[in-house]
Amino acid sequence: MYAGGEVADRLADCDCRLTSPAPPVMFNQQNLRSMIEPTPPLNALVEQAASLLRTHFRTEPVWTGIAPGRVNLIGEHTDYNQGWVLPIAIDRYTVLAAAPGGVPNEIRVFSASLGEQAALPLRDSGGRHPQAWMRYVEGMVAEYRDLGVICPALDMVIVSSVPVGSGLSSSAALELALAHVIEAATEQTATPEARIGASIRAERAFAGVPCGVMDQTVAERARAGHALLLDCQDNTFSHVPFFSPQVSLLVIHSGITHELASGAYATRRAECEAAAEKMGLSSLRSLATAHLKALEAEATLSKRARHVMTENARVRAMVAALTAGDYCAAGALMSESHESLRDDFAVSCDAVDHLVRLAEEEEGVLGARMTGGGFGGCVIALVRSEWVDTAATAICRRYTEYIGRTTLCFTVNATAGSGEMDAPV
Ligand code: GLA
Repeated sequence: MYAGGEVADRLADCDCRLTSPAPPVMFNQQNLRSMIEPTPPLNALVEQAASLLRTHFRTEPVWTGIAPGRVNLIGEHTDYNQGWVLPIAIDRYTVLAAAPGGVPNEIRVFSASLGEQAALPLRDSGGRHPQAWMRYVEGMVAEYRDLGVICPALDMVIVSSVPVGSGLSSSAALELALAHVIEAATEQTATPEARIGASIRAERAFAGVPCGVMDQTVAERARAGHALLLDCQDNTFSHVPFFSPQVSLLVIHSGITHELASGAYATRRAECEAAAEKMGLSSLRSLATAHLKALEAEATLSKRARHVMTENARVRAMVAALTAGDYCAAGALMSESHESLRDDFAVSCDAVDHLVRLAEEEEGVLGARMTGGGFGGCVIALVRSEWVDTAATAICRRYTEYIGRTTLCFTVNATAGSGEMDAPV
């Protein structure tokens, strides 16, 4: 088992049979409301999108595109280093309702989350769209055009239960949902590889984030009740069971909105490439402790490389822990991953570190970490199910005191990716 330092101490105290007594505090007795926000059902999002299409564009929906957000259980900043990741798709979705366009050669879009409407001229191949959120639409239309699929004029509504800028990959959800709408509207079906590839290229070229392959792949390929083990060197994958009534996965938003395009993500990526080059490796995938000697004079690069090396090992240990149903070990690995992201990879921030600490102090919490690119966004905590309401309430109350505003908190389940939604579970 891969667990050292602070984490090993906690693990030693952990009852891995998960048989601790139910929490003593009941919400109704204390007049406390659960802080866990209910998850909007998918059919309600679909209905909302359809109804908004009627009111905004006076047309009936003909095509619907749906894709989930994601939480990465472990394997952070390893994808663009040709390593391994273990994300789940979550039951928070982006839903598009679309119909043939009312204006020729134009895609008109209303975003319910932003309360904004925008138009994309299909003939204009000039600069980037002035509204940043429309660049995803622009990017997907352009990428499909390069595949020979010409998107027609559309009227479209976007509805989403994935909070934007929270590190839950709202952008990949939008890209994949758009991919499915473009394919439905043109009656041309791309392979999952082509769909994922178009989404990644759109993110890189039009949203300006030099991302890896994780988010778009899990949004398309995830299977319900499973995490996706993805080898980012050759994009091979397998599904690892991730379901137990004994544990719940809590997502708590730090309230700090991350901005991956702002440059820090690209800097980390460049540091990893520089570290690999200095060690004579084609990527950090094959890094072993012995290689780190070559980086002795480069403290920063050495730390970045060490994170990638230890994180890849933690992905493998996590797969073993989940397969064995050892959720204490799984939680310990999550906390250890956070320490590495905080100390070696430097992609956390004070508020997120504080939130992780608060979570780890609560009874029933087996481990916690930042998830996604970092620099803000969400923290995930693996919690014994019987404690989840109590823990969530305490974490949110204490974090609200710290940050000075209320915080969003919800549980997530591992759901199917957009390409797997109709597949039997
Ligand atoms: C973002 C990127 C992913 C991945 C994560 C960090 O979500 O889009 O490709 O690099 O950050 O693990």
